[in-house]
Amino acid sequence: MAEKMWAGRFQKSLDAGVNDFNSSIKFDSRMYQEDIKGSMAHATMLGAEGIIEPSEADAIVAGLEGILADLDAGKLAFDPTSEDIHMFVETVLTERIGDAGKRLHTARSRNDQVALDLRYYLKNQVPELKELLSNLTEVIITQAEAHKKTIMPGMTHLQHGQPVTFAHHILAYAQMFLRDLGRLSDLTKRLDVMPLGSGALAGTTYPIDREKVASALHFSAVTENSIDAVSDRDFVVELASCLSLVMVHISRFSEEIILWCSSEFNYIELDDAFATGSSIMPQKKNPDVAELCRGKAARVIGDLNTLLIMLKGIPLAYDKDMQEDKEAIFDALDNTKLALSTFAGMIESMTVHTDVLKAAAQKGYLNATDCADYLVKKGLPFRSAYKMTGELVHTAIEKGLPLEELSLADFQKVSPEFTEDIYAALDLTACVNGRATYGGPAESAVTNQIANLKKNLKTV
Ligand code: ARG
Repeated sequence: MAEKMWAGRFQKSLDAGVNDFNSSIKFDSRMYQEDIKGSMAHATMLGAEGIIEPSEADAIVAGLEGILADLDAGKLAFDPTSEDIHMFVETVLTERIGDAGKRLHTARSRNDQVALDLRYYLKNQVPELKELLSNLTEVIITQAEAHKKTIMPGMTHLQHGQPVTFAHHILAYAQMFLRDLGRLSDLTKRLDVMPLGSGALAGTTYPIDREKVASALHFSAVTENSIDAVSDRDFVVELASCLSLVMVHISRFSEEIILWCSSEFNYIELDDAFATGSSIMPQKKNPDVAELCRGKAARVIGDLNTLLIMLKGIPLAYDKDMQEDKEAIFDALDNTKLALSTFAGMIESMTVHTDVLKAAAQKGYLNATDCADYLVKKGLPFRSAYKMTGELVHTAIEKGLPLEELSLADFQKVSPEFTEDIYAALDLTACVNGRATYGGPAESAVTNQIANLKKNLKTV
């Protein structure tokens, strides 16, 4: 363990166990690029403002470039006994360039430095997350385009409700992921604010130029309150919340996939490359990917809870509790990214059993609402039509028939308004395509929905 930078005030060196306990390098080393680039911008600004000698600024920047290149190339290893990535980089810099390295931390604290690193790192993650979400949405759209005519039972309470199409059903998930994309875009506004210059909590006496640092690092704005800037982890909570909602969406979809590939439903079959077998039951084909996605949703929601609970009781400004933010958000990020890409592959490669879906839709009297609507169109009040249709459903259940196989005499026993055209009205495709309201399951409405989704995906 190297001597601590803050050793001057202490008479004893740090207990080795405490050093381990305190250290964050195991997990914050993943922000090394952001940390070094932040330091380069800071040193450049210090040189330009005459706070340090321009030659020293140049030496610092060159030294940092070398460290960055060596870390990128795997030529420099992180010291596991370092307190954190910030201390590690500064120590290596000073070893390499000598005294000029000791000037890097002028007008800066690790509190504003870590706030910068984390904002910068998370901001850089957003494009990849958006790419993964857009890709999943496109995969869903492609499956939907192939199934605009595939009738299936639409359910409420997991009971047959009204006929819809497979396209319309899965596009509900595309809408959720589009909203997730929108939330990430919105969050970017709050990530895109540069905290360096806030110091430990009370700014600095040096004549720094915060705007210069912000623009060098491509941040759109600088933070407004030094205390808030070093205490704020709202952006971490917000991202974890976006990721939790993404995972909730994936988890709901997973639950349906798991049901749909059971032998009871048999609506879909997963590709062999996206399913697993059993060590003992030779016939098994298990939806492990979907189950693991559902499981990972729990852990990402757990990460969000960790962050909220970590923040709720700590006083302003920085407290060491905040170091716990990184493992939680990195875990949420890693697992959401993994889930997004694996889940998309599973959806893309699954086979939809259109015949099974159609047969399922023919059970459960999905066209009962349409039967009632038929009578309403003949002038009856909906409540009366509803009751009469209920009687017809009862007759059909007793006879073990779907509604459309009752005789015209059976229909007319309930109401003389029924004529031969009731059979066309009860045809499932007609029932679906009759629901052509904006946002409905009719093929025309779904075509429109897909066009809007594609347009919105480009701008979100
Ligand atoms: N490793 C710390 C963290 O991740 C960096 C900031 C430390 N600041 C301090 N004053 N101890 O939060």
